Amino acid sequence: MFNKTRRKLVVLNAAVFLLILVVLSTLLYLHMRYRLFHESDEVLKQAEKRIQSVHNLAEWLQSDSPDPQQDEKTTYLFWDAQGRLIGQAPKQSLSSSIANQFRTPNDEPAIRTVIVGHRSYRVLQFPTQNRNWGPIASVGIVRSQEDLDGTLRSLLRDIIAGIIVGLIISIFAGLFLAERALVPIRRSWEKQQRFVADASHELRTPTAVIQAQTELLLRHPAHSIEEESPKIAVILKESKRLGKLLDDLLTLARSDSNQLEIHPSKIALDALLSEITDQFRVLALTREIEITTDVQKPLLLWGDEGRIRQLLVILLDNALKYTPPSGRIEVTGRNQSHSVYIRIADTGCGIAEEDLPHVFERFYRGDKARSRSLGGSGLGLSIARWIVDAHGGVIRIHSKVNVGTEVELLFQRKQRELEENCGSWDRPLLKN
Ligand SMILES: Nc1ncnc2c1ncn2[C@@H]1O[C@H](COP(=O)(O)OP(=O)(O)OP(=O)(O)O)[C@@H](O)[C@H]1O
Ligand SMILES: [Mg+2]
Repeated sequence: MFNKTRRKLVVLNAAVFLLILVVLSTLLYLHMRYRLFHESDEVLKQAEKRIQSVHNLAEWLQSDSPDPQQDEKTTYLFWDAQGRLIGQAPKQSLSSSIANQFRTPNDEPAIRTVIVGHRSYRVLQFPTQNRNWGPIASVGIVRSQEDLDGTLRSLLRDIIAGIIVGLIISIFAGLFLAERALVPIRRSWEKQQRFVADASHELRTPTAVIQAQTELLLRHPAHSIEEESPKIAVILKESKRLGKLLDDLLTLARSDSNQLEIHPSKIALDALLSEITDQFRVLALTREIEITTDVQKPLLLWGDEGRIRQLLVILLDNALKYTPPSGRIEVTGRNQSHSVYIRIADTGCGIAEEDLPHVFERFYRGDKARSRSLGGSGLGLSIARWIVDAHGGVIRIHSKVNVGTEVELLFQRKQRELEENCGSWDRPLLKN
């Protein structure tokens, strides 16, 4: 798939580059051609003016160098009324058979190109009209274009060589650029592939358990619910797990496609923290875990309350899940100069040093067996990271195995938004 895309990108790059080169080169060539022709034609027109100003052309022609300004590429031809060549300057420059090819019966004032043999000439022919120039009826000024054609030919050669070299360079540059452009695409494609594979793997286990337990239930249709309650409890637990997994997957999939938006409002973080810790305290009691809070009041934050709640639940759930009985969890909330600081520390099993850099990856579980048995799928911290990033905050985790884990959150308080939105204090929460 990537090879095909790379090839397409290279071809497209080269084609665009070739088109630009051809257009620019053609413009350059045409411009040069126009300028050279224009200069040459100007010489012809100047020569015509000089001849027109001669009074006695017969005498003028007799002199050794009648027109000192005439260059070696220009020849003057003089014809009589019958079209016979009766003179030329310089003398004997052209044979009369060649010279007569430059003449047209009706004198056209326009400058034209005449090709004789392989050589081209620019010709300006004009009638003498009523001037007293004796037998001379028309004058032709002929200018060889040999130099000009040579210049244009070599320019064309250089341009073609330039286009070929440019094309080769653009192919190599295209290969390099395509490779670079594909790196993030390849990375995100592989990430997506891994995500889909991990998700299906995670979904398979609870589905298989539910299926097996249901089949066992169906074997004994006469049994009462009470008799089969252990199996029903397993089904319930696994279906809850399945539901949570699907919710998490949906959140991450939506965050990937930027479908999830943050709807910020003023949050009383002190109240939110005490509300959530109270809920967790009930659960913690059953496991003899103590939750202490040290939250400064008032602790205000500008953010999406639904998402911040979800973030705190993920972190407290981890702290509770990975802390053995008689442990302790500390929740701290502080106002700092321009930010709000939250810390959730536990005295749990900790995270191994080699796992620490990976805990924010999707489906990453440190102690796999332990996490799985506790119902974890490894998506919590990925979602937490997304919420923190979406709020422009920072999340840091420090941990020591068998000592505990400390998660720190830092959010900008956004004082201006908080002050401007005093009135929106009781605004209903906007949730996704
Ligand atoms: N407070 C903590 N103490 C010890 N280990 C932790 C703690 N928080 C996270 N971890 C480790 O980091 C891993 C990833 O955490 P995460 O919250 O993403 O997944 P999970 O808790 O396994 O599953 P989920 O949160 O999706 O139910 C966990 O499996 C665990 O090994
Ligand atoms: Mg978790």
